[in-house]
Amino acid sequence: MRTYKALINNQLIDNGQWLEIINPTTLEVAGKVTALTADDINKAYSVARSAQQNWEEVELLQRIEVLKRFRNEIEKNKEEIAQIMSEEIAKGLKESLAEVERTIEIIDYTFEEAKRIDPLAMTGEGMGAKNKIGVFSRVAKGVVLAISPFNYPFNLALAKIIPALVMGNTVVFKPATAGSLVGAFMANLAINADLPKGIFNIVTGRGREVGDIITSNPEINMISFTGSVGVGNQIRKMGSSTDLVLELGGKDPALVLDDLNLEKYASEIVAGAYGYSGQRCTAIKRVLVPNKIADKLIPLIKAKVEALTVGSPQENANITAVIDEKSADFIQGLIDDAKAQGAVILTGDKREKNLMWPTLIDNVTVDMRVAWEEPFGPVLPILRIDSVEEMIEIANKSQFGLQASVFCQDISTAINVAKKIQTGTININSKSQRGPDCFPFLGIKDSGEGVQGIRESLLSMTRYRGIVVNY
Ligand code: NAP
Ligand code: G3H
Repeated sequence: MRTYKALINNQLIDNGQWLEIINPTTLEVAGKVTALTADDINKAYSVARSAQQNWEEVELLQRIEVLKRFRNEIEKNKEEIAQIMSEEIAKGLKESLAEVERTIEIIDYTFEEAKRIDPLAMTGEGMGAKNKIGVFSRVAKGVVLAISPFNYPFNLALAKIIPALVMGNTVVFKPATAGSLVGAFMANLAINADLPKGIFNIVTGRGREVGDIITSNPEINMISFTGSVGVGNQIRKMGSSTDLVLELGGKDPALVLDDLNLEKYASEIVAGAYGYSGQRCTAIKRVLVPNKIADKLIPLIKAKVEALTVGSPQENANITAVIDEKSADFIQGLIDDAKAQGAVILTGDKREKNLMWPTLIDNVTVDMRVAWEEPFGPVLPILRIDSVEEMIEIANKSQFGLQASVFCQDISTAINVAKKIQTGTININSKSQRGPDCFPFLGIKDSGEGVQGIRESLLSMTRYRGIVVNY
């Protein structure tokens, strides 16, 4: 059984208390991580605070050199990390490896981008103060709390940790419990890389038990959180005096406006909806299509859904078990509600414990829960709608505002529709997605606040410090 320990002050912590992590594929114990107590967690903050000033004073290029040792440890261990991830969250082995490789690319780009976070230099001349020169540099905020979700346990953790550290912050990192084997494995990498004491601390423990202790520590200067709306809103309340970046849930619509490239639209929709069994914040979670196109598009989507393989992440099946049985029950509830209200199941609606077959539902109406709620599973509802205006109205009626896709060959029409959609990003002629990772990534409405993406993360983890010279 895998056993990984929490990390405080670059030392592994064994307090004799453990949290068992379940493999979603076998439903057996995959491993255990330290279950930290309130005292342990407070200690993590206290060492992070003590280490911060010294770390910030290390010059940027030297900080990068230190962090490169950690990055190289990741590269050396990438197959092992992918294997743990695949066991722990049932992500396909190849996809898990791709997640690790994508993370290395993000880290490398972050190191380069950090060198381009230039200070703002200006004079006060335009305000009648020409004898003043101001240099406004981006400096560390202090101690950053990074909280990651289960679905990208490595990538979404390091997309927060690395920009925070490179800019001179110290970090307390709380991995999702499903995902904390991967999270705590990073402790070994940090020790091998001989990171300076206290700059990077990993606090493992169940959110519902230690979440308040983790999020309410007075040493926190900034919280970068990715996860559900419910927990995000709880953090909003707790961390009222703290800077926040929240990346939350989504209900990304795909609006199909013409029938000029339906084969491609169907491929993008299926890849977008069912990748990692629909457990992506940016998954396409509803299709809005005019009746006259629906009868041509839907059979293409259905054929592609039926071609998806269902099974083991170790064999890279397209559809694997969702994270736990509670999630599967919730997803099934959405399917059952739609069926009871007259929706038509085109394929799927089959389940063995938490392994759910990819399900495609036609004739979904706005009265059904699946039209609005985020399943976070392999389920795609299709709403047949008469006019483009109504499609836009329904797209915007959602509480969420992460991303959307517009499929249309006429780029002017596509852009005009995109401009009316209330989401952080609108993708024309592709599935919704976070990458490329140098792009800003944001959700509006209940989908979040603040912006991620490489440059934006570097900015959000710093503040201006102005030095004004009077002459
Ligand atoms: P979650 O249940 O909200 O958990 C996210 C993180 O919060 C985990 O580390 C969790 O730890 C922790 N947590 C739970 N309760 C807490 C509390 N009271 N205080 C502090 N932390 C607490 O979300 P998830 O199930 O891991 O991820 C799925 C959700 O995340 C979906 O809604 C998805 O759309 C969203 N998501 C959004 C994005 C984005 O970029 N917009 C990206 C990925 C996922 P425990 O695991 O120990 O509970
Ligand atoms: O689950 C949320 C992730 O931010 C989505 O990333 O679009 O690259 O799958 P992705």
